[in-house]
Amino acid sequence: MQPVVIAPSILSADLARLGEDCAAIIAAGVDWLHFDVMDNHFVPNLTFGPDVCKALRQYGITAPIDVHLMLNPMNNMIAPFAAAGATSISFHPEVTDNVDATIDLIRANNCKVGVVFNPDVPLDLLPSLRGKIDMVLLMSVNPGFGGQKFMPHVLDKARAARKMIDEWGTQTRLQIDGGVNMDNASDIAKAGVDTFVAGFLFRQARDAYSKVIQEFRSNIEAPL
Ligand code: DX5
Ligand code: ZN
Repeated sequence: MQPVVIAPSILSADLARLGEDCAAIIAAGVDWLHFDVMDNHFVPNLTFGPDVCKALRQYGITAPIDVHLMLNPMNNMIAPFAAAGATSISFHPEVTDNVDATIDLIRANNCKVGVVFNPDVPLDLLPSLRGKIDMVLLMSVNPGFGGQKFMPHVLDKARAARKMIDEWGTQTRLQIDGGVNMDNASDIAKAGVDTFVAGFLFRQARDAYSKVIQEFRSNIEAPL
């Protein structure tokens, strides 16, 4: 199991003051920023492109930027996001006709690779990804919007993915995305997740970030 990572989703940030809000939440103790890219086609919402990622880097954000692509088509946006300063790029395999080629393309662009499983997509592809990816991302809501309710059946998938990653013996991260909150953090951690996307952190008052992040981290780490 990898050290715990907390990655607030900028979807819930103060978008008119994005750089300032990201700097504040990083200073308050999170590890990465999670950057949700939506195209109003693969998912019914529209968000940010590579220029926003680049703007965060130019503003001075040095923390890892974890890009979650919810796009179709998608491969043509990998190089622009890498050039804009993405650290990792996660993709939904249903969007590519060649999963290995997309993985190779992300690697060729010097980014870490994540593969995403929607809530109702079984883990059938996972065994074939051994040794090829840095992160497995389990969606615990249907992608598209922040602030949705956590789907508890995904905890079974988390346990299954944890078991497989442990059998691999690799440093692959297990990430969860959607509806994570203070109350379910401990159950999610017990299921073997080490990387937590969390929109709710950005929905706190800015002067409460530090306290809420500390409490969230202790809920995650308590059962470990
Ligand atoms: C959902 C996105 C998530 C979302 C999470 O489509 O992929 O990253 O922002 O937000 P919360 O934590 O509010 O569910
Ligand atoms: Zn996401």
